Amino acid sequence: MKKVVIESPGGYEKLKIRDFPELTFKNDTIIVNVRAIGINYADCLVRFGVYESAKKYVGWPITPGFEFSGVVKSVGSQTSRFKVGDEVVGITLFNAYATEVEVKESQLFHLPHGFSLIEAAGFPTVFFTAYHALFQLVKIYPKSHLLIHSAAGGVGSALVQLAKAFNFTVTGVVGSSHKVDEVKALGADYVIDKSTQDLWGEAKKNAVDGFDAIFDANGYTTLKDGYKHLRPVGKLISYGAHSLLPRGGGSGRVNYLKAAIGLIKSPRFNPLQLITDNKSVVGFNLSFLFARQDLATEAMTDLMRLALERKIKPLKTTTYKLEDVGLAHQALESGKTVGKIVLVVN
Ligand SMILES: NC(=O)c1ccc[n+]([C@@H]2O[C@H](COP(=O)([O-])OP(=O)(O)OC[C@H]3O[C@@H](n4cnc5c(N)ncnc54)[C@H](OP(=O)(O)O)[C@@H]3O)[C@@H](O)[C@H]2O)c1
Repeated sequence: MKKVVIESPGGYEKLKIRDFPELTFKNDTIIVNVRAIGINYADCLVRFGVYESAKKYVGWPITPGFEFSGVVKSVGSQTSRFKVGDEVVGITLFNAYATEVEVKESQLFHLPHGFSLIEAAGFPTVFFTAYHALFQLVKIYPKSHLLIHSAAGGVGSALVQLAKAFNFTVTGVVGSSHKVDEVKALGADYVIDKSTQDLWGEAKKNAVDGFDAIFDANGYTTLKDGYKHLRPVGKLISYGAHSLLPRGGGSGRVNYLKAAIGLIKSPRFNPLQLITDNKSVVGFNLSFLFARQDLATEAMTDLMRLALERKIKPLKTTTYKLEDVGLAHQALESGKTVGKIVLVVN
């Protein structure tokens, strides 16, 4: 079998494909022949050497990857839900960038209805993230107006789809003009192109009294203004900080000076002010919640139902060969991509 291995932090050249012995299953595990692997921005953070859960749970060397799809190769005697030959999609805390993956059966699911093997590889992480932010982390009331940053990206597209499936009003924000129609096609009520429009001026026009929730993985560049544009009982949901990091064109390495300046500029929220304003600031990182099987099971069960009812559909998917994993990371770091990037295993 082959795995992508990163031995130390750095640029795209650090993603090496290495040969390993075939995996052997245990009584309570299942081995999957991987056909496709979803790429997430967090995988780039792992390669940069700044992803906290990778440092805490694995260290170096590391094989990134949170999600995959494929065909069951072998099943342990204490497993019962899958048989050899089943097409499956899976979640894992790292190690998905490989031609074979060994997981517990609780980490595997049948393909969501209407998704191909390739589309399914990009399904679990972004939809689970969006589901957690919308339905598990906070309570968002019917008829709420949501502002979703990076609305054409992986998590952003999933958030827009899920929010519209539940009839929320959605303002999507994108950083490039070619993404506007993509977000409209996902059902967003308004799209703000911050490369050509005044983000908060437009936001104010769409939601005069402020938003009920704002979903932000930018970090310091938008959190402070986002807080100001919440209405009472509004929630600012912070789940990433990609504006601290390089955006395309470079060697794929962190500019630590830029990151440090961004960290210094990150807003500090005053708890007394939160009380007076009736606003909340909440954060999460699913990679530290891997032990919370209850959350994953609830989310995946509901998401499978929504796929069956055709309320959510596959994201726009761009594929790269496993051997071109460096190009796939480069594309995601360009900030120009729409939907999901998926690696395909031959
Ligand atoms: N906390 C969690 O549990 C969790 C789980 C999954 C993902 N995330 C976070 O969610 C965010 C989205 O992840 P994703 O995998 O779905 O990626 P993505 O949204 O498909 O791609 C990243 C998007 O972010 C924007 N962006 C802003 N600054 C950027 C930079 N310096 N480099 C690259 N892109 C930049 C770009 O969109 P615009 O220019 O249009 O804004 C870009 O298209 C990431 O920050 C990720 O770490 C968090």
